[in-house]
Amino acid sequence: MEKEIVIHMEGLTKRYGAQTVVDRLSLDVAEGEIFGFLGPNGAGKTTTMLMLLGLTEPTAGTVRVCGFDPARDPLKVKEIIGYLPENVGFYEDMDARQNLRYIARLNRIPDQVSTVRIDRLLDEVDLAKEAHKPVGSYSKGMKQRLGIAEVLIKEPRVVFLDEPTIGLDPDGTNKMLDMICALSRERQMTIFFSSHLLDQVQRISDRIGIMIKGKLVAAGPLAELAQRGLGLEEGEAYTLDQIYMKYFKEG
Ligand SMILES: Nc1ncnc2c1ncn2[C@@H]1O[C@H](COP(=O)(O)OP(=O)(O)OP(=O)(O)O)[C@@H](O)[C@H]1O
Ligand SMILES: [Mg+2]
Repeated sequence: MEKEIVIHMEGLTKRYGAQTVVDRLSLDVAEGEIFGFLGPNGAGKTTTMLMLLGLTEPTAGTVRVCGFDPARDPLKVKEIIGYLPENVGFYEDMDARQNLRYIARLNRIPDQVSTVRIDRLLDEVDLAKEAHKPVGSYSKGMKQRLGIAEVLIKEPRVVFLDEPTIGLDPDGTNKMLDMICALSRERQMTIFFSSHLLDQVQRISDRIGIMIKGKLVAAGPLAELAQRGLGLEEGEAYTLDQIYMKYFKEG
């Protein structure tokens, strides 16, 4: 059976004044897929996510998340998606459990339900032992993991992660990537994430997209991009680095 398309963009465009930040982007992502979104600073990755989230309105084109238009049906879309922004913010004088409870209540999750989820999530993101400390005292990695717990508290179908491993040490990065993989494999969550770290994207993504100056210059499974972009035969060795630089120079 064909997998359901959960993220759909067609001719999606965003302009700020004279600057076209996202330029006629067309892309579908299927249920359970991990899609890695690559591109240099200022390429338009975050702006694309904000349009998918309904946090900024497209200038032109179509965007649907699980069939809903985020601009028209923001509440419906908010119910089914989770979002980890580039800079995660917390209530620094509250502890992890209090922060999670707050987010749960904002999402109208009854306390009995959220209590169970909070315990499980704190375990999963390895913060159970530190759960009673004020978040202001947390390291970058701990905050990032708490951010993931906040994303998951409402058990979203689709998760948007804007540079989820930024600022993490190698061990923290590996754990974060493993966690993202598990969400997709075990819970069929669809993951759309941006990153600058090619080896990480290569490790976990089913498909990748490369955005340069607002244009999606390539999208597909890595092996396919290698064959197409580098003119390689099946089975020939390549790195994502080579592919990225090839499209980057052309873009
Ligand atoms: N609210 C805004 N008003 C005007 N210009 C904006 C606004 N938001 C973003 N831009 C511009 O749009 C372009 C794309 O920005 P965006 O944040 O989407 O890039 P990005 O790919 O996420 O980059 P990075 O890798 O640095 O996070 C940039 O040139 C930025 O200056
Ligand atoms: Mg960004």
